[in-house]
Amino acid sequence: MRKKIVAGNWKMNTNLQEGVALAKDVNEALKGIAPKCDVVVCVPFTHLASVNAVIDSTKLGLGAENCADQKSGAYTGEVSASMVASTGATYVILGHSERRQYYGETSAILKEKLGLALENNLTPIFCIGEVLEERDNNTHFDVVKAQIEEALFELSAEDFGKIILAYEPVWAIGTGKTATDDQAEEMHAFIRSVIAAKYGDAVAEETSILYGGSCKPSNAAQLFAKPNVDGGLIGGASLKAADFMGIVTAF
Ligand code: 13P
Repeated sequence: MRKKIVAGNWKMNTNLQEGVALAKDVNEALKGIAPKCDVVVCVPFTHLASVNAVIDSTKLGLGAENCADQKSGAYTGEVSASMVASTGATYVILGHSERRQYYGETSAILKEKLGLALENNLTPIFCIGEVLEERDNNTHFDVVKAQIEEALFELSAEDFGKIILAYEPVWAIGTGKTATDDQAEEMHAFIRSVIAAKYGDAVAEETSILYGGSCKPSNAAQLFAKPNVDGGLIGGASLKAADFMGIVTAF
């Protein structure tokens, strides 16, 4: 059975003290319960080591929101996959639409990042998704398929099996406009079929595909009830422990 996962993406929010307090709150809330999914928080680089020190890693996973496309050396301001791993983090978000859109991350760059993340035993949470115009002109399936093929399909089946996918329609991110559960299911089933055609049914069945985009406590249960939706990648609603836990317990 593939894993169910709820992961927070804090983006560029919280200073160090606020972030540590938020992580402590989530950690505390997880103490009393046995969630039906893995729970992860992906936090700014500056917060990783401090957050790692205050969470129970058996109950709450930790990840970065990005890593460099180079191993080490003269790349001022960059943070390598090995540096991320050395903080105790075990996940890394790659290919978020905000990285693609604002920082020019292409599939070629993302392939380098993926390779380095896997070399350092980080689990990539790899994001894909179309913009509104692409959905409106009915090219959303082609766009998502191309994003998967370009960045992921040179991986061995073994390495592909280590990746978590996150379908995040760009028009639903931070807009309050969630994809309907049927829209999410339709795309997730399509993504699984694309994986099956390349790597076979067994690999496709084992791949966790998360939904992201205005997911909140009030719509999470409906989304997660769909057979191909294996959890969520949560932005805004991950910044308040109560909201985030409302999504975690939607399973
Ligand atoms: P929101 O949940 O704020 O829409 O953000 C989704 C997202 O981009 C998670 O990576």
